[in-house]
Amino acid sequence: MADATTLRQQCLDQMEADPRNYFGGLAWLREAFMTVPREHFVPSRVWWPRPGDDGLYDLIDRDKTPNAWLKAVYRLRTPLITQIDDGAVPTTGPAKGWFTSSISCITVVIEMLRHLAPRPGERILEIGTGTGYSAALLAHRTGPGMVTSIEIDPRIAAHARQRHHALGVRAHTITGDGELGHPAGAPYDRIVSMASVRRIPPAWLRQLRPGGVLVAPLDTPFGWDLTVRLSATGDGAAVGRPVATVEFMRVRGQREVRPYADLGWPADADPRQWRDYEVRADQDGQLIQPTPIPTAVQP
Ligand SMILES: C[S@@+](CC[C@H](N)C(=O)[O-])C[C@H]1O[C@@H](n2cnc3c(N)ncnc32)[C@H](O)[C@@H]1O
Repeated sequence: MADATTLRQQCLDQMEADPRNYFGGLAWLREAFMTVPREHFVPSRVWWPRPGDDGLYDLIDRDKTPNAWLKAVYRLRTPLITQIDDGAVPTTGPAKGWFTSSISCITVVIEMLRHLAPRPGERILEIGTGTGYSAALLAHRTGPGMVTSIEIDPRIAAHARQRHHALGVRAHTITGDGELGHPAGAPYDRIVSMASVRRIPPAWLRQLRPGGVLVAPLDTPFGWDLTVRLSATGDGAAVGRPVATVEFMRVRGQREVRPYADLGWPADADPRQWRDYEVRADQDGQLIQPTPIPTAVQP
């Protein structure tokens, strides 16, 4: 059985060979991925995200099957479930219910960070700390003390804090509702959400510096989310475009279904044209409009 470093290298090689261009040629992102030990953040008992024939999600226990656990940690496109039903289900055996926390899959985390493009010394706000893994990748890039990460679940936040401490990662993990951001640390150069929203929270827009970048998964009428990358205009608004298709668990306060018309979506939104929408969010709401990217004028 390969060790963690070998598995990490295999993941990197697979992502490098993939036409989706996960690292986008960014050396810092490759280095962060190879340096931060993902296995350090994964709890010893996690659920596999696909149900068995009995409809239950299998529990993978590091103490009982260490090789299977490590292999699962380094499955490129598989999130591992760390909480079901907001913690009502104990991690003692196969279970069913709603996934409420996970370590996001490798490809999704790398893609989100590529689009965020943080730079050394920048102030970063992350919403949805989860295990603390993505915050550690961010801190590796920005340097100590620059990442503030908010987690709504106190037990999950405590786990992440402890994992950061054990590895010497200097990030601030706040327990609270990430939809409110963290005004004490604002303005931020970049904000990234690791949980999806139906409506971009106005607090994020207020706490982003002019020209700052927001990357977040946005619910769509298409049956999946879109990662959007918006730039702050300086007046409490942000404008940008979808950059990737994705699926994320929703922030707690936005689980309830809402009519897409109330969320700024046109009635005839076309999933095949997802790249051609412009997303504008401000303090009063959001508007998603078809605005095809102009094709380059041929000489
Ligand atoms: C997909 S997990 C994040 C995974 C994480 N990035 C990692 O590397 O492990 C999403 C997290 O968002 C948290 N969450 C949900 N709603 C939230 C909110 N309103 N504020 C902060 N965290 C929230 C969940 O408890 C969950 O831990």
